[in-house]
Amino acid sequence: MRLRNIKNKEEILNNCNYLITDIENIKIDKLFKNNGRPIHLEIGMGKGQFLIKMALKYPQINFIGIEKYSNVLARAIAKIDNYKLDNIFLICTDAINVNKIFKHQISCLYLNFSDPWPKKKHEKRRLTSEDYLKVYEDIFKSKKIIIQKTDNQNLFESSIINLNKMNYKITEISLDLKNSEIENVTTEYEDKFVSQDIKINYLKAEKED
Ligand SMILES: C[S@@+](CC[C@H](N)C(=O)[O-])C[C@H]1O[C@@H](n2cnc3c(N)ncnc32)[C@H](O)[C@@H]1O
Repeated sequence: MRLRNIKNKEEILNNCNYLITDIENIKIDKLFKNNGRPIHLEIGMGKGQFLIKMALKYPQINFIGIEKYSNVLARAIAKIDNYKLDNIFLICTDAINVNKIFKHQISCLYLNFSDPWPKKKHEKRRLTSEDYLKVYEDIFKSKKIIIQKTDNQNLFESSIINLNKMNYKITEISLDLKNSEIENVTTEYEDKFVSQDIKINYLKAEKED
């Protein structure tokens, strides 16, 4: 999702007091008003619908959203600004940097409708490639939990294979999330797919420390 430049992007980003810009020196443990609570991370948060709904639904959890493109992030901020949320922080960076930012602080990682990178030669760019899964290894506090949702069958299958190689156990799975019993908060992409009757794949993968 690479949206066109929005007019007041710089102003939105500069005025956002929940956007982390100094990723080298940020103290994650001292970031939130309510420190000590579990931190859940969404990588590829897009325009932020999932993060907002989750932060409202679970005020006892602190959320951090990562998005690669500042244009997209500025749109998310414009939306998040409409709520008074003290349990969201955002970072504009590539997922490849997460192990430079977090050291044993994350309780759960969400990968919602990540870019599928369908070509073989681009497989390594998938957010559940073995390379990325290795990058996530040290970000988790204790038990590693990854939750993935996708409309894309190939991405879903390769995620299962890679998670398995990295010794994760799939503890929940659905090939039709909307018609399952699994508790769910929808994302922007998900709403669009569901409105077109496209089935959503869901998995929860866990690995003990
Ligand atoms: C298809 S969109 C899904 C957005 C949102 N998660 C949803 O479900 O509505 C994927 C998002 O991930 C972001 N993204 C893709 N690769 C990324 C990476 N390596 N690091 C951080 N963000 C990334 C894209 O810019 C885009 O906003």
